[in-house]
Amino acid sequence: MTADQGAQASGELVLRAHGLAKHFPMGGFGRSRKVLRAVDGVSLEISRGETLGLVGESGSGKTTVGRTLIRLYQPTAGTVEFEGRDITRSSGARLRRDARRRMAMVFQNPSTSLNPYMRLGDALTEPLVVHGIGDAAQRRARVAEMLDLVGLDTSMAQRYPQELSGGQRQRIGIARALITDPSLIIADEPTASLDVSVQAQIVNLLDDLQQEFGLAYLFITHDLSLVRHISHRIAVMYLGRLMEVAPAHSLFTEPLHPYSAVLASMHQDREHRIVPNGEIPSPMAPPSGCVFRTRCPIARERCASETPALREAAPGRSVACHFPGELKLDQTAAGARPEPVGLSFADTPSTNEPLRPVSVGSTPRASEER
Ligand SMILES: Nc1ncnc2c1ncn2[C@@H]1O[C@H](COP(=O)(O)OP(=O)(O)OP(=O)(O)O)[C@@H](O)[C@H]1O
Ligand code: SF4
Ligand SMILES: [Mg+2]
Repeated sequence: MTADQGAQASGELVLRAHGLAKHFPMGGFGRSRKVLRAVDGVSLEISRGETLGLVGESGSGKTTVGRTLIRLYQPTAGTVEFEGRDITRSSGARLRRDARRRMAMVFQNPSTSLNPYMRLGDALTEPLVVHGIGDAAQRRARVAEMLDLVGLDTSMAQRYPQELSGGQRQRIGIARALITDPSLIIADEPTASLDVSVQAQIVNLLDDLQQEFGLAYLFITHDLSLVRHISHRIAVMYLGRLMEVAPAHSLFTEPLHPYSAVLASMHQDREHRIVPNGEIPSPMAPPSGCVFRTRCPIARERCASETPALREAAPGRSVACHFPGELKLDQTAAGARPEPVGLSFADTPSTNEPLRPVSVGSTPRASEER
C-alpha cells in the first residue's frame, strides 16, 4: 500500500455482489426441513475510497453479509466479484490469492481474534506468513510500519493483548487487517464495544486511512448517527434483504422505503417518530410478498402477494417497495433538528462526541452536505 494509491473515491468498482444468499439448514428432513434465510438476494457494489454503511435491526443479516462477501461462508446463491474476479466458488490457494489478501475484516471485539498467549508482533506477522509475504526482516519492518500507521508505539510488538486498552486493541485489529495491503475492509461494529471518546478516535483513524490509501469500507453498525456521519451511501437491511440503498444524506432527509422512514424518523423528536407495527418476524418464516409488510404502516393487499424487487428509483438510489416515497417524514420535524441526535435501533440516546468532518469520495457524506 502506498500513499500514491490513496486517490479519492473514483467510481472504480472494488466489490460487486449480485443476488447473494446465505441460508442455514436448521434440521428436519423432506418437507419438514427448516431453513433460516439469513441473507436472501442481496446485491450491492462498493467503489474504491467509498464507505458503504450497512444498517438494520439485530438479526437482519448484516454480519452474515460481511462473512459471505469475504467468503468465510460459502454463498447459498448469487455471485461475489472482487477486484474484477468472480470469487464465488474460489477456495484454497486461489481464494487466498484472489480475495483474502486484499479483503480484511475488523471485528467488534478485537480480543476474540487475538491469541492471548501470542505477542502482538507475532499476531501481526501471522497474515504475512499465511500469504507468504516478505522474509523475516521485511515482516518485522512491515509490523513496525503498521504500528506506526495506527498510532501505536513500535514497542507494542513485544506486548500481549491483555496489556492493552480496548482502543489500543482495536488499533491492533486495524493494523492486522491492513498489513496485507487490502483494498476493502469489512468493519463489523468496530466501535460498538468502545467508550465514546475512543469510538471517535477509531472512526477518525479509519477516515485517515481511507483518505491516504483509497480504501473501500463496508461499515456495519447499529448506530444511526455514526452511519449517517461516516457513510457515502447507506444500505438498509431487513430480514435478510436490502430495503433501500441511497446516499447518506438523502436516506435521512427523503427516505423512499417505509422502513428507511422509520429509521430516519428516529432522528426527530419523539412525537414525530414513525413506529413500526409489532416485532421483526423470524427469518425461518418470513412473510410472503414484502418481508416488511407485517410492520409497514402503509402495507396493502399487493404487498402480501408480490415481492418488491430492489429497483433504481433515482440516480444512485434503489428501493424495494411497491409504493416508494409514500410514507413521508414530518418535514417540519425533519427541518427542526438537522443534527443527528445519536439514536441507535435500541432507541438509546448516545453521547457520541462530534466527529471530525471528512471529505472523501465522489458521493458527499451526510456530514458534509449539511
Ligand atoms: N452460523 C449460523 N448458523 C445459523 N444461523 C445463523 C448463523 N449465523 C447467523 N445466523 C442467524 O442468521 C440471522 C442473521 O444473523 P446476523 O448475525 O447476520 O445478524 P446481524 O444483523 O449481524 O445481527 P446483530 O446486529 O445482532 O449483529 C439471525 O437470525 C442469526 O440467528
Ligand atoms: S412493499 Fe408494501 S409492505 Fe413493503 S414496504 Fe412497500 S408499502 Fe410497505
Ligand atoms: Mg452482527
